[in-house]
Amino acid sequence: MYPSKPKIVKDPYTKLFALAKNFELLSSAQQLLEWDQETYMPHGAISVRAQQLELLASLIHKQKTSPSFTKALAKLVDLETGMILQQDLTLPQRAALREWRRDHLKMVKLPASFVKTFSKTTSTAIHAWAKAKKENDFRAFSPHLEKIVGLSQKKAEILGYREHPYDALLDLYEPEMTSAYLSPLFARLKTELTQLLKEIQAKPAMKDDFLHNNFPPTKQLDFSRILLQAMGFDSKTFRLDESNHPFCVGIHPTDTRMTTRLHPTYLMSNIFSTLHEGGHGLYNKNRNPGEFGSPLGDPISLSIDESQSRWWETRIGRTTPFWRYFFPILQDYFPEQLKTISFEDFYRAINTVQASFIRVEADEVTYSLHIIVRFEIEKALVEGTLKVRELPEAWNAKMQEYLGITPSNPAEGCLQDIHWSMGGIGYFPTYTLGNLYAAQFFETFEKQNPTWQEKVAKGELGFIERWLRDNIHQYGKQFTAADTVMRITGSPLSEKPFVDYLKKKYTRLYQLN
Ligand code: CO
Repeated sequence: MYPSKPKIVKDPYTKLFALAKNFELLSSAQQLLEWDQETYMPHGAISVRAQQLELLASLIHKQKTSPSFTKALAKLVDLETGMILQQDLTLPQRAALREWRRDHLKMVKLPASFVKTFSKTTSTAIHAWAKAKKENDFRAFSPHLEKIVGLSQKKAEILGYREHPYDALLDLYEPEMTSAYLSPLFARLKTELTQLLKEIQAKPAMKDDFLHNNFPPTKQLDFSRILLQAMGFDSKTFRLDESNHPFCVGIHPTDTRMTTRLHPTYLMSNIFSTLHEGGHGLYNKNRNPGEFGSPLGDPISLSIDESQSRWWETRIGRTTPFWRYFFPILQDYFPEQLKTISFEDFYRAINTVQASFIRVEADEVTYSLHIIVRFEIEKALVEGTLKVRELPEAWNAKMQEYLGITPSNPAEGCLQDIHWSMGGIGYFPTYTLGNLYAAQFFETFEKQNPTWQEKVAKGELGFIERWLRDNIHQYGKQFTAADTVMRITGSPLSEKPFVDYLKKKYTRLYQLN
């Protein structure tokens, strides 16, 4: 017989953390089911999968708003004022409580009946959107979007805001961000980018036809795995699979699921998707496993997460030193298609700037203009100055004004993205903020690593991962996005590093001035 274990009295923080870890385990199971749905699930299972996901979502919501969790949280932090009630906590623990409280207040504000209506409306709308996009029929989708805009306005009222209803929605994706901050930032960015684009458009287009050829998908996938290994992934803790829309699911630091798009006749789609999702994946891999379930083990925000993906996709993956090392390897994979292509031609081809209709295929210069179109439109929809029925016209007018092109149908216009049908109004700005954060972080990285180009040209990428881990990944949500950019770069977020980078790079590439 063993003596019975002594009963351990947990301190209030440990108790709270243990409860929160259960939510995280449930939500990681939810993520795994979502990953499966997008990759390997047989199509016939769609209905039972929806039921499984709905049940998990309601269990998580129930637990997060349960009296036991509320009580455990209220023991440590005054839910009304945010004051920390236990004095011997560390700074990271205090930050975790700030985040737990933030999340909790949002959860309890939204009545369960509202959450249910919202999710029912969006799950119908997603199907309606997919059909409308296929059939190029905006009118079929517009009643659904009207409902979603109405519910989003209601959501903003329930959640509350100081100045603009859009802020309440934005805050769900990018904590503390406001339209008062964003509007002038994006306006300055728009002026700079439209100017740069005009200068580029006045120059002859670059030749990139050799990137469109036959590239066997299995070989493309092999090359992607080489890239991920060079970035710092260990084969025991990640998967790379194929899906229509590339994504990354961070289930746990030991389980990163990434997908890529394999286009049999276009080479770069897979390569840039892999680098992009790989950037998200490294952020997941470097979360502190001991903090799994606590905000200290979570990414800061969507835009900081996106800064990591854009960092690898653009600031590393579209550079000369990177391809000095990887282009010969790529040529070995596809000798028939690439052996006769010079390095310079390849480098120029992968950095072609061209105004196009589809956001996800946009280059570095035009990408943020696509986002600004969406930001201005969704803000106007929420404040009621734009009606859903006026959307296609407003969209086309902005595309013409900022990019100089007009979509010929809604599928390549305002119906192209899934976000609004999912109720994700307020999400789009995080993409551009990600680019801005990446550029600002990169300026500091470059100062601290003056020989980065020489190392990268030798295929060494490990030091980049370590820099990102030490400066960003390891902290979880200890610092907010605004604090993080201040701490690393010494300045608040600005569009200037991004604009400076683009001007310098593309002035040289297109021989502007
Ligand atoms: Co991303």
